[in-house]
Amino acid sequence: MIKGTNGYIPGLAGVIAAQTRLSHVDGQLGELIISGYPVADLAQQAFFEEVIYLLWYDRLPNQDELVTFTSELTAQRSLPQATLALLEAIAAENVPPMDALRMAAGTLSLGPVDERQAALALVARLPTIVAAYWRLCNGRSPLAPNPALSHAANYLYMLTGDIPAVALTRGLETYLNTVVDHGLNASTFAARVIIATNSDMVSAVTGAIGALKGPLHGGAPGPALDMVFEIGKIDDAETYIRAKLERGERLMGFGHRVYKVRDPRAEILATAAEQMYQAAGDMALYDLAKGVEKTAVALLAEYKPGRNLQTNVEFYTALLLHGLGLETDLFTPTFAIGRVAGWIGHCLEQQREGRIIRPLSQYTGELARQWLPVSER
Ligand code: ACO
Repeated sequence: MIKGTNGYIPGLAGVIAAQTRLSHVDGQLGELIISGYPVADLAQQAFFEEVIYLLWYDRLPNQDELVTFTSELTAQRSLPQATLALLEAIAAENVPPMDALRMAAGTLSLGPVDERQAALALVARLPTIVAAYWRLCNGRSPLAPNPALSHAANYLYMLTGDIPAVALTRGLETYLNTVVDHGLNASTFAARVIIATNSDMVSAVTGAIGALKGPLHGGAPGPALDMVFEIGKIDDAETYIRAKLERGERLMGFGHRVYKVRDPRAEILATAAEQMYQAAGDMALYDLAKGVEKTAVALLAEYKPGRNLQTNVEFYTALLLHGLGLETDLFTPTFAIGRVAGWIGHCLEQQREGRIIRPLSQYTGELARQWLPVSER
């Protein structure tokens, strides 16, 4: 048996496996720069369409460019009949929305004539898929996209049938801008590996959706919110969290491979959530979540000393999306609706680099086994 790690780094922690102009993550300082801009500046001010343009063209659009780009995206929102038929069949099986999104994303190879059209269609249609599926699962017919609404507002409209209030659209836009890109996270890496074989955008995004689904990546906010609800009142937080850590369970919404301080996205989303709950006139859940966060960080320091386990983006994602009226099952699909713009930006970069991603593995098995025919084993 070959022993020793000899250069093998589990989880590729700390390994630089791509160069990118899309986002810079400083895990020690807790900084996130999106194509040159501190994420906080973009998050609360930009339209999501502007941020997509920034990631794909490495600069913000001027007014004319924004109008043209927005109308190109808007034109791609409707789903092919085959996608709708598939969603209907999947809804009858009660499949979780993230699996439905992955299955339906594959059908987006139907229609677009080239890679640019495919990129636009992927960004434009993921919200239509999620909203259509959500309505089908709830016994309602899917709604046609509303071309008069922005990308973010149209998603909320397609879910509920109501034109959303400006504050709700702004809350969602802030969320989408905040999660649009984040270095070489697992789903982005998956997309880059796929496109680097000279495969296509739809394949890369479909693979990335599969990677995002897992609870160690994009699947954390649902369980994070469940934890806050299960705790129920702040006096019970310590007992509940201590019991979880004693059982060796992980607290969803805490810890990060790169950040060793509080995730800067948590701050942005906490502020956006605070504004939303304030506007709604009920701060109870927000205050409870703040208390749970404080207790969780303190207990993580006690149970995992030296690990620097802090709040990550998913904890306040849960609170913000809940405040927007989204149910838990929609949290991870909504993450995909934001991150798809980053996945595609990375695919474009990887295509320009033009090199297959093909690392090595280290063999840890036997080297000299002797073959025996089945009758002698
Ligand atoms: N709760 C309890 N313990 C934790 C947590 C947590 N949330 N996160 C890490 N730890 C512990 C591990 O058990 C481990 O302890 P040990 O050394 O005593 O065994 C130690 O901290 C280091 O953990 P690793 O798994 O080695 O850290 P890694 O960098 O591989 O994992 C990850 C990062 C997956 C995010 C992890 O912190 C985690 O599981 N967090 C909870 C899930 C979550 O919130 N995911 C969303 C991340 S943000 C995003 O992807 C968009």
